[in-house]
Amino acid sequence: MTRNPIAAFDHRTGFKLGAPVGFKDYMWEALKDPAAGINMIQTAENLARKYGISREDVDAFASRSNARAVAAQQDGFLAGEIVPVVTEKFELEGYKPRGIRLQGKVTEVTADTHPRLSPVEVLAKLKSVFEGGVQTGGNSSALVDAAAAAVVASGAYANAQGKQPLARVVAAAVAGVPPEIMGIGPAPAIRLLLERSGLKLDDIARFEVNEAQGAQTLAVARELGMNIERLNVNGGAIALGHPLACTGVRLTLTLARELRRSGKRYGVSSACVGGGQGIALLIENPQAA
Ligand SMILES: CC(C)(COP(=O)(O)OP(=O)(O)OC[C@H]1O[C@@H](n2cnc3c(N)ncnc32)[C@H](O)[C@@H]1OP(=O)(O)O)[C@@H](O)C(=O)NCCC(=O)NCCS
Repeated sequence: MTRNPIAAFDHRTGFKLGAPVGFKDYMWEALKDPAAGINMIQTAENLARKYGISREDVDAFASRSNARAVAAQQDGFLAGEIVPVVTEKFELEGYKPRGIRLQGKVTEVTADTHPRLSPVEVLAKLKSVFEGGVQTGGNSSALVDAAAAAVVASGAYANAQGKQPLARVVAAAVAGVPPEIMGIGPAPAIRLLLERSGLKLDDIARFEVNEAQGAQTLAVARELGMNIERLNVNGGAIALGHPLACTGVRLTLTLARELRRSGKRYGVSSACVGGGQGIALLIENPQAA
């Protein structure tokens, strides 16, 4: 996320004297929905207005997300799903060596660097991204770098290999929503998921709903009438960050490991999708089945 380019696409044939010089911040462009003509943060502001969510509500949620993530780092839970990133070279005969070179004096990164204890009084002092809005840099998902991977296989294959799956994928659902309130997407996706699997909201012991923006996650919880004590119990993207293309696996892996730890059976991971979608996955802890 932090290496997104700032690019110029209008100048292949040169710069005309006095013409505007068109550089674009591609991170900011990626966070804008050209159809609705608004930024992702503004979609959360729309939800805050629709669900009557205040700045205090969002800051309290962000403070809790950070506190939970810090606790999960301190008790070692999160370390169990992190492969340390170190300065290293990958060599293969016939190819140029590739590698990872960490900056400065850093030789390894073993934990997420964004979570920090964030009292509401501190968060309350941050300026909102948009005038009069509830979202700030402290209660929105952080822009961080990460990658995640998972092996997904059929039960028959896992058995044949003598592998114990961490979780069983039970059902999946995707729903469409208006782009200007894209963040509500997890609500209809989770409803559809429950309908497909014949379960009730109460049957789900743990939810991992991506915290794209604090007001967005609170809107999902309010829309579904979710027990917030079951939601993002090890912190969420406000604390850990939301690296696009990593988050889905990260949410589901954290959920699977949390179900194992707590001995609970069903969990749902879910995320909103810029452009107007929600996606949800139901998983089951095989040890609790
Ligand atoms: C909200 C957003 C615009 C902020 O971007 P930014 O201004 O570059 O963010 P920063 O990290 O610089 O944070 C802004 C300020 O908040 C402060 N801050 C952030 N988290 C904090 C915390 N937990 N406690 C105290 N201060 C905090 C930073 O230190 C910074 O302060 P400064 O301006 O004095 O340096 C950006 O993070 C964003 O768009 N996030 C959401 C992404 C998204 O919507 N993804 C979903 C796609 S569907």
